Amino acid sequence: MPDTTAFPEDFVWGAATSAYQIEGAVAEDGRLPSIWDTFAHTPGTIDNGDTGDLACDHYHRWPEDVALMGDLGLNAYRFSIAWPRIVPTGSGAVNAKGLAFYDRLVDKLLDAGIRPFATLYHWDLPQTLQDDGGWTVRDTAERFAEYAGVVAGRLGDRITDWTTLNEPLCSAWIGHLEGRMAPGLTDLTAAVRASYHLLLGHGLATQAVRAAAPRTPSVGYVVNLSPCEPATDRAEDIAAATRADGHINRWWLDPVYGRGFPSDMREAYGVDLPEQAGDAGVIAQPIDFLGINYYFRQVVTDDPAGPAPHFRQVPVPGAPTTGMDWEVYPDGLEQLLVRAAAEYPVGALYVTESGAAWPDERNAAGEVHDELRAAYLEGHIAACARAIERGAPVEGYFAWSLLDNFEWAYGYDKRFGLVHIDYATQERTIKSSGHRYAALIRAHAERTGRTTSASRLPTAR
Ligand code: IFM
Repeated sequence: MPDTTAFPEDFVWGAATSAYQIEGAVAEDGRLPSIWDTFAHTPGTIDNGDTGDLACDHYHRWPEDVALMGDLGLNAYRFSIAWPRIVPTGSGAVNAKGLAFYDRLVDKLLDAGIRPFATLYHWDLPQTLQDDGGWTVRDTAERFAEYAGVVAGRLGDRITDWTTLNEPLCSAWIGHLEGRMAPGLTDLTAAVRASYHLLLGHGLATQAVRAAAPRTPSVGYVVNLSPCEPATDRAEDIAAATRADGHINRWWLDPVYGRGFPSDMREAYGVDLPEQAGDAGVIAQPIDFLGINYYFRQVVTDDPAGPAPHFRQVPVPGAPTTGMDWEVYPDGLEQLLVRAAAEYPVGALYVTESGAAWPDERNAAGEVHDELRAAYLEGHIAACARAIERGAPVEGYFAWSLLDNFEWAYGYDKRFGLVHIDYATQERTIKSSGHRYAALIRAHAERTGRTTSASRLPTAR
């Protein structure tokens, strides 16, 4: 178990989920389809033809799921709010039943001593907005801010910690350029325009949350970053790594921290941005924290024949990998945290997602022994400790994910949870990794004199 000495007393130990990946109940209480309902129901898009229609049935089982968080000793829970439940057509009428669901969830979390971190957009754009152009048009950014204001107005008396977007890179690049996520486009111009409007939406939503929340909010933004390295010392590969860094990291950070869009990447894309006077200041709204989701580094090679910006990730020979074929490389997390703190005025940092998929199974005794995941989490928590010792202001760590869930185009086969889901019965089982995480939280609490509900759990296996 990593030494917890580096972690301050009030360190946030959490787990994260997102609405479409766990909730199910896609047609209940006034929810209308999002782009992910449409995409998942398009033949050939998702492994095994899986959809989020039922997922973990969290919409009905949320009290049990909050109890599991208590069993794990979590002091925070990061979840997303489904825009298509709150404003089902994307603009206009607000759905009271949708708001009421999150209202109950937040009350229950607070009763259990668990701090809610709410994400406003984890990829489930109302389909009606997509029909009008989605993130490629400016109107979507404005509608996002309206919705954000509605949610903050209703829940902001109890939720302090808000994030606007989760991983806008995936929405823009994977959803509009690579076509592997909703809305499934492969169009560079659409992707660049979407990236711009996502960032504008982030700025407008930040303003809206601050204006509407009854209590002073702490507002952040969540990006998935990767250290980018050349596969060889060829000049072409070194230049490709710089472009990869621009595409994956700098494009999503520079504008938010007032540096504008990186000029080398503007040139690499060759697409005019739909800029209007005043936008740069909106995008660079002051924020209170940066959330970093980290899964792997990118070792890249030049790829002149591939799509802009012409780099390709290559495997690292001999490196350990997860069930997603992603390299296990905890040092990358330390590097990113230290770099973010050195290069940007981040305020606080949170690791808002960190985790790994492996094909877990319950044994005859009904237990799930996922030692690889437990070691993965401990390795990444140790990387956070090293970053803190090097001065990075890391205030929390969220394991991805609380539950096994709908892993987007991979469906249900890729299991990231601390808690195993039997999708036939919806039975929940805390895995060994969950027990080990709980033991670490408990050790930290004992060292700092804090109480934790994890003391209810049997000793870690
Ligand atoms: O499941 C996703 C999550 O929705 C966003 N970050 C990466 C996770 C694992 O792929």
